[in-house]
Amino acid sequence: MWYERMDLEDWFDTYQFAVDYDVGESAVKFLTLGDLGMDLTSVALRYGHHKGLPELREVLANDYEGLSADDVIVTAGGSEANFAIVSALVKPGDHVVVEHPNYPSLYEVPRSLGCDVALFRLRRENAFKPDWDELERLITPKTKLISLTHPNNPTGSMIDTAEFERAVSIAESYGVYLLFDETYRELSYGEQLPGAGASSPHVISLSSMSKSYGLPGIRIGWLATRSAEVRDAVLAIREQVTITNSALGEQIAFSVLKRKTEFIDRARTHVQQNFEIVRTWMATQEALDWIEPGAGVVGFPWIVDSRIDPEEIYTRLVKEYRSFVIPGRCFEMDNAHFRLGYGGAKDELQIGLVNIGNAIADSLD
Ligand SMILES: Cc1ncc(COP(=O)(O)O)c(C=O)c1O
Repeated sequence: MWYERMDLEDWFDTYQFAVDYDVGESAVKFLTLGDLGMDLTSVALRYGHHKGLPELREVLANDYEGLSADDVIVTAGGSEANFAIVSALVKPGDHVVVEHPNYPSLYEVPRSLGCDVALFRLRRENAFKPDWDELERLITPKTKLISLTHPNNPTGSMIDTAEFERAVSIAESYGVYLLFDETYRELSYGEQLPGAGASSPHVISLSSMSKSYGLPGIRIGWLATRSAEVRDAVLAIREQVTITNSALGEQIAFSVLKRKTEFIDRARTHVQQNFEIVRTWMATQEALDWIEPGAGVVGFPWIVDSRIDPEEIYTRLVKEYRSFVIPGRCFEMDNAHFRLGYGGAKDELQIGLVNIGNAIADSLD
């Protein structure tokens, strides 16, 4: 087992605090404690419940038909949930199928654990849609786990309920677990998928307060599954890493989720307005093309003009325009692609887009 730095997190670490126009982020506009108007003075700063604050698990369970608070474990972000689920379910040498492109942890954790990881590609020529027959072809007798993310980061690829049910039935018929990352579920543009973990004991939902709520700083995520075996195995892993969650983070998440509709309605309206801004802008960009995201707050456009050196554009954007996108190489994709995030403030987005156009124009001068 060997962990390496993730290019994506390295890029963030190097540049995100050196820019004014962040059009690469994958969350809705970050909130402050002041925005939430919460009094946290009475929160006991003690160790919490190992599975997470009971009342928080209770509100989270409401999203999963037929599940209760006992079926939910609160974690330090979706990242800890992914780490614990994968570590609980696979051993070195096991075969794991992970959708790609994706948030890199989804494939880096099983790789680092010594698994044989097959990438299930969302292909540009297929509008970044999954090909379910291909998924079945990738499964081998050694496959233990399939990992899918929709709405997808970085492509914005979305699936419908019938496709989701197909994925669940594939997992069931081959007797493998399905880790379904639904971190952006609330930011669907049309039909919202059902809470995945309720669908079958083979399925584990992974989600987070980071993206749809704009609260990555509280480091609260969760998993939900009918499988008691998986939940127990996850607890055994996380006891060695974080033991329990941040008391402040749990209390903030609980207070926000009590007013969930208000937060999500606001986030959706904001994202729809920003999406229209990006769509209008994209239509004017001769050097760029994209597949319109079907949900979420990110898209994965690409530079079509082969005279342009993509890396030069991305670094020029940071250094000369104080603007930030994520290079495709951070997702093990062709570097002509970049992640464009449109969850942030409207003014920041508008200026960031103009700056992308200007950086491209500079390089063609
Ligand atoms: C699809 C997806 N899953 C999980 C995560 C992990 O985020 P967090 O640990 O903040 O919940 C990310 C972060 O970018 C993500 O994009």
